[in-house]
Amino acid sequence: MDIRSRLIINGGKRIEGEIAVQGSKNSALPLLSAAVLVHGECVFHNCPRLTDVDAACRILTRIGCKCQRSGDTVTVDAQHISENEIPESLMRRMRGSMIFLGSILGRTGRCRLSFPGGCEIGSRPIDLHLSALRQMGAVITEEHGYLDCETPTGLHGAKITLSFSSVGATENILLAAVLANGTTEIHNAAREPEIVDLAECLNKFGAKISGAGESTIYVEGVSKLEPSEHTVIPDRIVAGTYMCAAAITRGELILTHCEPSQMNGFIPVLEQMGVRVYAYGGGKIYLNSRKKLVAPSTVRTMPYPGFPTDVQAPFTALCSTAEGTSVFVETIFENRFRHVSELMRLGASVKLEGRVCVIEGVKKLSGAKLCASELRGGAALVVAALAADGITEISGVNYIERGYESIENELRSVGADIKKIQAI
Ligand code: UD1
Repeated sequence: MDIRSRLIINGGKRIEGEIAVQGSKNSALPLLSAAVLVHGECVFHNCPRLTDVDAACRILTRIGCKCQRSGDTVTVDAQHISENEIPESLMRRMRGSMIFLGSILGRTGRCRLSFPGGCEIGSRPIDLHLSALRQMGAVITEEHGYLDCETPTGLHGAKITLSFSSVGATENILLAAVLANGTTEIHNAAREPEIVDLAECLNKFGAKISGAGESTIYVEGVSKLEPSEHTVIPDRIVAGTYMCAAAITRGELILTHCEPSQMNGFIPVLEQMGVRVYAYGGGKIYLNSRKKLVAPSTVRTMPYPGFPTDVQAPFTALCSTAEGTSVFVETIFENRFRHVSELMRLGASVKLEGRVCVIEGVKKLSGAKLCASELRGGAALVVAALAADGITEISGVNYIERGYESIENELRSVGADIKKIQAI
């Protein structure tokens, strides 16, 4: 992993131009996991070129699948599965590896994986995943940092009520339920577009899922899935990040290949700040940022369709130069303000009190040496640096590359002065 590369940004250049939004990382990962359930070759188009997607492909290869990329298309052939263990090195690399539990268990009846460790944005427990799978007949033992999951009598349908509408738990239940015996009901299911994408793809494979996108999902187990093709939905978080980047430079941006209806949780916040946003048919957005931006009213991160926790960091960067006081309340992850101390190095005026972040807009930011310590927080530093006078150097680029496909090339193509210095 390339941990020593840096982004060098000479801020103050207005963003103007057009960006085609990449496919969604958070959709691609569970979709690749879904391929494990199919005896044959599944084809995924619009698969973003990201280190997290590479890590998912490595897991697939490790368990015996053939996995190939050609451009934006990834082909997975899970005709033969020879392994059902995900090694610790791959689990540690990406917490999202947990998403392979449901499918490996559903396909092989057993899965062994190392417990995903504490994560940089909060403790991120997996109790909801494990409790749901146990209700479906899995016997799970936790020993020496490993989870051993078996299904002595196969997985069966169950009526599961999630105490929190966890995205990952909903996905793992879907993956485990499609081949289970009988019907599974998921109450208080997550309603994120990535859940709908996964359900639509599984249905193309022959699964019987209804209600995805609503809070109760029904899955009627089937005996076999058939291979098919699927196109990954656009990445609404990446779209939101580029909108913040354009807005902070008081720029003008057209986004193509996006789905505006999936961004209703945050586009109104941009509008409240004085950014003009127009959504067009055919997956296009036009954004124009006036000279003066004002603080929005209190923003609370919420499950979909609320304001996504994943765009909280880029929005706090944007608000650092908006007139007035902005308040963000992080209700999903307890430690998602780690980027704030770095924003302060640029001159942002921010106070943190637990899950609340208060930003007093300043007239100017100025370049500094920064360190990204997680994915979205890292992207927020890029957003802020675009508006900072002088040079900003950002290390920890490997975090950003987990979710953004060549961020430096995309932003350079719309007028930013940004380059990546590769580690030697
Ligand atoms: C997914 C996304 C992530 C996004 C998050 C919330 C992927 C790969 N990641 O993460 O980008 O920020 O949804 O939209 O899709 N929780 C528990 N027990 C569990 C599971 C979750 O307490 O078993 C808690 C978590 O600690 C967290 C909250 O539920 O506080 C939300 O987590 P969840 O929705 O599961 O997020 P992820 O699926 O990990």
